[in-house]
Amino acid sequence: MNRTFKTVASSNIRISELMLPSHTNFSGKIHGGYILSLLDQIAFACASKFSGNYCVTASVDTVNFLKPIEVGELVTIKACVNYVGNSSMIIGIRVEAENIQTGKIKHCNSSYFTMVAKDKEGNSMLVPGLILSNNYEVRRFFNCIKQIALKKEKDLHEEEFDYTSEEALESLKKYNIKLEI
Ligand SMILES: CC(C)(COP(=O)(O)OP(=O)(O)OC[C@H]1O[C@@H](n2cnc3c(N)ncnc32)[C@H](O)[C@@H]1OP(=O)(O)O)[C@@H](O)C(=O)NCCC(=O)NCCS
Repeated sequence: MNRTFKTVASSNIRISELMLPSHTNFSGKIHGGYILSLLDQIAFACASKFSGNYCVTASVDTVNFLKPIEVGELVTIKACVNYVGNSSMIIGIRVEAENIQTGKIKHCNSSYFTMVAKDKEGNSMLVPGLILSNNYEVRRFFNCIKQIALKKEKDLHEEEFDYTSEEALESLKKYNIKLEI
């Protein structure tokens, strides 16, 4: 079967929302959990738009909260597909908050979600191939390849590493812990 190819631009999604007092945490800033739910929504929309299928969140790979968001700021969240596998897609998401009085914009969050396309029966579906049209898109694709390799390496390490060995327990001495086993 011939695979179709789609541009990164065809996956672009953007939402803007004014931050209300009801979204705050105990310190008066916007609650991280609220931002996470917006990230999940936009990742779903971006992956579904690109794949043309229903998508589920397989993993939230990185969520970097870089700056706090204040009540009254206009938050804009942008997402696009950074990487495609067979049925999986890595969605890169950028969150900016704008002070609507001054127009000053700050970069508040960068996140990466892995989404998987599904058919009606819940089987994983092949997603379109990705057309990389500029150096930014190529760089993001390579970053995802690296991220996937690091994740595999970590999983392998977890399987093979003997954390009960004398050497392993000895190496814990440099950390802020007290071993009481
Ligand atoms: C994510 C899920 C679809 C993977 O199912 P699976 O049976 O392992 O599917 P497969 O082995 O065929 O993997 C499908 C793809 O997902 C990728 N994948 C699976 N688990 C992954 C993970 N934890 N992180 C990143 N990618 C993952 C695989 O690498 C594969 O990618 P590819 O098709 O591009 O090569 C399945 O575990 C699931 O449905 N999880 C629940 C999803 C959900 O409910 N999300 C909402 C959370 S509240």
